[in-house]
Amino acid sequence: TDLAHIRNFSIVAHIDHGKSTLADRLIQLTGTVAERDMKEQLLDAMDIERERGITIKANTVRIEYPAKDGITYVLNLIDTPGHVDFAYEVSRSMKAVEGSLLVVDASQGVEAQTLANVYTAMEADHEIVPVLNKVDLPAAEPDRVREQIEDVIGIEAHDAVEISAKTGLGIPEVLEAIVQRLPAPTVGDRDKPLKALLVDSKYDSYLGVVVIVRIIDGVLKKGQRIRMMGTGGTYPVDRVGIYRPAMQDVDELGPGEIGFLTASIKQVRDTRVGDTITLEKNGATEALPGFKPSIPVVFCGLFPVDTNDFEDMRDAIEKLALNDASFTSEMETSAALGFGFRCGFLGLLHLEVIRDRLEREYDIDLITTAPSVIYHVYMRDGTRVDLHNPADMPDPTHIDHIEEPRIKATILVPDDYLGDVLKLCQERRGIQMDLTYAGSRAMVVYDLPLNEVVFDFYDRLKSVTKGYASFDYQMIGYREDHLVKMQILVNDEPVDALSMLVHRDRAEGRGRAMCEKLKELIPRHMFKIPIQAAIGGRVIARETLSAMRKDVTAKCYGGDASRKRKLLDKQKAGKKKMRQFGKVEIPQEAFINALKMD
Ligand code: GTP
Repeated sequence: TDLAHIRNFSIVAHIDHGKSTLADRLIQLTGTVAERDMKEQLLDAMDIERERGITIKANTVRIEYPAKDGITYVLNLIDTPGHVDFAYEVSRSMKAVEGSLLVVDASQGVEAQTLANVYTAMEADHEIVPVLNKVDLPAAEPDRVREQIEDVIGIEAHDAVEISAKTGLGIPEVLEAIVQRLPAPTVGDRDKPLKALLVDSKYDSYLGVVVIVRIIDGVLKKGQRIRMMGTGGTYPVDRVGIYRPAMQDVDELGPGEIGFLTASIKQVRDTRVGDTITLEKNGATEALPGFKPSIPVVFCGLFPVDTNDFEDMRDAIEKLALNDASFTSEMETSAALGFGFRCGFLGLLHLEVIRDRLEREYDIDLITTAPSVIYHVYMRDGTRVDLHNPADMPDPTHIDHIEEPRIKATILVPDDYLGDVLKLCQERRGIQMDLTYAGSRAMVVYDLPLNEVVFDFYDRLKSVTKGYASFDYQMIGYREDHLVKMQILVNDEPVDALSMLVHRDRAEGRGRAMCEKLKELIPRHMFKIPIQAAIGGRVIARETLSAMRKDVTAKCYGGDASRKRKLLDKQKAGKKKMRQFGKVEIPQEAFINALKMD
């Protein structure tokens, strides 16, 4: 295809502003898929994605569009994830295209992720076309949102396209805008050695690893032998093709084009995103400027509730890891929980997604331990230990100081809730960096410790703002603080799965809350159970669970037999999810709930 007739673009938006619906409309209007094959939200492949409405893996689709100027253009849309945990995936897909549609819900306005994503697009030198979606809604205020885009983001918005992805209004105008206002790919040279950017890869159970590439120079064809310039691996190309959105083989991909290849690559880990693909013989000598690798920042232990599930869990984790290079795992044993895995994630949402998949797709009941971040522990002898499991905390007498990761958090919130948000950030040891207004919304920027965010910050933020706040963050580095390891003892036995690093000033509060929660969550036994929080040998909080006095069924009013049976059945089912700690049985929910703070 002539370069001048190609447009490569992505869509940036805050979650739920209608990115997937717009993508579907574009595909539909250009007849890329037959009407009867049109499923809602074609680009979101996985069930969980659909359920949660979150696009996780970048996807791509080729659309052919006969424009008003009489030329048929090839439009390549790369779908990007919208959630904070996947900011890195957004940044890497952006480098493969020249422009972006900025979709803003005209009834909601600009949100934190809109900002984060549009800045990423700007960093990638994109031309940006603002699109105001959901103008069919009575609450839509396109004029106000136009102004807001100009004020808050600082880009021209008077010629923003007004659309309803739901009704189809304005979709032809979007297609024209893509062609007229977004640039064609920068010049590539067919005759130069192959240089292709590895945009993304995913595991397909039939095809093995499928790699999405953007060709910069040269031509990619079936039968060639390719070399990954970063990792050095060489592979024979089996298939070259495009997504329409179903896979379709093509003879070749040339400069400016986006498509896929398969090459008998065994695992996703062998395909480093941002790597340059060239030919094994007479290849390019210089790689494209590299991308930073995505590294896990949140860690937790995952243990099967039923120890017999361990082998199944190992298989499941291996399978998931094949398809997700940013998820790490290593075996871990815990005195209390037995065999399990210490896993690393890009963020809390990523953690939840993986945990859900293990539980649902592989049918394994899990215990999740307290999420932790990576602490830098500086020893008196000058060495540094990177600690991501409180259980591995070195002897405190040998520690010089501890540094923790900090984030820059951007929160957009309606005025009315600003006070609550500031209070929450303050409680979480935040340092205010900025506070500005855009209409009736405030934008606050905080420097926060990541370990205060990994527990339940999103949940708290949502609840104090009734869901009206939006949140985005990026890592900004490490800073020293007074951090200590707090242990929880149940019936004098330390429960290592509940130990955590906390700030010294927050330890008492956190410890007390945990003890109180556990007192509610642990069922009574035949004996008295002390529940304590301790730093080193010093107890900082304590609760006592009194002994059970009567048979629980005594609660049921006299002779209602069915009710009695129901209660007993419920207890039996509950048993499955219990773990034994010394003489005490702790239900699985206790672990998760004890870690949430109110
Ligand atoms: P993520 O995939 O989670 O990033 O969300 P998204 O930005 O792709 O949003 P999606 O397309 O899933 O749309 C979110 C919700 O808004 C869905 O319930 C859509 O049906 C609805 N929606 C999208 N476009 C419009 C529109 O133009 N008008 C109205 N009324 N609703 C819309």
